[in-house]
Amino acid sequence: MEKKKIEHLAIIMDGNGRWAKSKHLPRIMGHHAGVRAVERTVRAARELDIPTVSLYAFSTENWKRPKGEVMGLMGLFRYYMKSKLEDLCKEETHVRFAGDLEALPDDIVEILDDTEKATAKFTERQLVVCLNYGGRKELLDAVNKIVSEGIKPPITEEILRKHFYLPDLPDPDLIIRTSGELRLSNFWLWQSSYSEYYFTDKYWPEFDKNALQEAVKDYYERERRYGNA
Ligand code: FPP
Repeated sequence: MEKKKIEHLAIIMDGNGRWAKSKHLPRIMGHHAGVRAVERTVRAARELDIPTVSLYAFSTENWKRPKGEVMGLMGLFRYYMKSKLEDLCKEETHVRFAGDLEALPDDIVEILDDTEKATAKFTERQLVVCLNYGGRKELLDAVNKIVSEGIKPPITEEILRKHFYLPDLPDPDLIIRTSGELRLSNFWLWQSSYSEYYFTDKYWPEFDKNALQEAVKDYYERERRYGNA
């Protein structure tokens, strides 16, 4: 039985809005509470010796939300990256971003770039924040880059992967989605081909070290066969 170590844990952080509603708070407070859950979970993943964590923070579809919420989320990304950079450096974590970043406000693009550069020296651990990310968009962007570079068929998996946002990223071993929804929602479409899924009814702001430990335990009890008998 294959028990592959978790190299890459990917998380669909869902349920911030419903958590806020259940507490009679504005939706944005759910996202604020979501940031605290991010901090707890990233710390817990480090303690569990998981080298790569990726977070689905803003999808290509999230622009359809009310303008105030989108602006609030952008404000949170700004604040988080600026104020947590020192901590992330202390924790020796390389912070990277996946998505069509050019469509984000210019000052955020600059902050992301500074954060990535300031942490690039840390090679043991990485935190990947998916911003304006969509799996379909990533595939289309890759195909368009291949065409514009004049690369001739046959296009192999290796060539395609080289044109992804973060080509060296291992595929997620485990994808967690919170809040009881059972969907991938355009996250790591190509990369999730053999990922294990774990769903929990907890809203993202309620997620903590115990919840992560349960998910990881569940993962290690499974058998991964990759198409073999
Ligand atoms: C989904 O909940 C959550 C999001 C679209 C945003 C996730 C963002 C954060 C947790 C903020 C911080 C992240 C970083 C990396 C600093 P929802 O609003 O769709 O909840 P609902 O389905 O209950 O309405």
